[in-house]
Amino acid sequence: MERSLSMEIVRVTEAAALKSARWMGRGKKEEADDAATTAMRDVFDTIPMQGTVVIGEGERDEAPMLYIGEELGTGSGPGVDVAVDPLEGTDIVAQGSWNALAVIAIADRGTLLHAPDMYMQKIAVGAEAVGMIDINASTRENLEAVAKAKNKDIEDVVATVLDRPRHQKLIEEIRETGARIKLIPAGDVAAAMNTAFDDTGVDILLGIGGAPEGVLAAAALKCLGGEIQGKLVPSNEEERERCLKMGISDLEKVFYMEDFCSGDDAIFAATGVTDGELLKGVQFKGSSATTETVVMRAKSGTVRFIGGEHSLQKKPNLVIKP
Ligand code: FBP
Repeated sequence: MERSLSMEIVRVTEAAALKSARWMGRGKKEEADDAATTAMRDVFDTIPMQGTVVIGEGERDEAPMLYIGEELGTGSGPGVDVAVDPLEGTDIVAQGSWNALAVIAIADRGTLLHAPDMYMQKIAVGAEAVGMIDINASTRENLEAVAKAKNKDIEDVVATVLDRPRHQKLIEEIRETGARIKLIPAGDVAAAMNTAFDDTGVDILLGIGGAPEGVLAAAALKCLGGEIQGKLVPSNEEERERCLKMGISDLEKVFYMEDFCSGDDAIFAATGVTDGELLKGVQFKGSSATTETVVMRAKSGTVRFIGGEHSLQKKPNLVIKP
């Protein structure tokens, strides 16, 4: 892949963040998502690549833009798989809460997992604990392994878990070990990524979230030298059928890093829409707006934090009045 694509996709996540941030706290998650999706789609059209959406807004018949299989880019340049979540955390933006992101991962064609839109059990850690976790081991075993890998007492380990009734047993299991918990309302891509950054104060992501988000998290962790493991959790017969059609008859199948992201390279970019532990959200300052983006590449291991200052006078298309 061309290294210049890194900067190109930053322009895409910035545009999605700038447009969707206008909807912060307005209680309208669909409008926020539409704004992000349209902005992303528009900027993709200007990028010299032959991209195919493998993780997107839905199947062709259910999503007007960024649907699975849609071709993106100018049609010249490298052939790449594209995974997008224009607005990761639609409810977060609607409520003006923490950690909403505009997210993209790209990788060489045919190397990103075409994860179905269903739930996935996940466990994710940063570089220090790679090779120490096992999705089939008990919660205690995994937390002890992370504590050992990070040279901490288990009481000092922080596990991030989506705040959902389905996680009641998991939460009890974590509490029994003495480890601490950060319950989040939404946004497990940020939660997985944060395990690889010391300053965020979290060590492990546990629990069930979306499978497509698992692929995005895997791309981020590949760049950061971390690890995610996942197991699909179909919630009805139709989803079980879908797994079978994908050739997954064993629902205990574990997806490892090489299943999520099988190539030797990936580029990942995320721009903060609302404030989070890692990235500040969009701030509107009258005639300008600022963004914070992390962009990274697996092959080189480079991680860049990019602050953007966007002139709303020179780019009036960024001024939207919901
Ligand atoms: P949206 O951006 O679609 O709102 O998803 C946010 C999210 O919290 C993901 O980060 C997570 O993987 C998934 O939803 C969890 O799903 P649910 O809200 O159904 O528990």
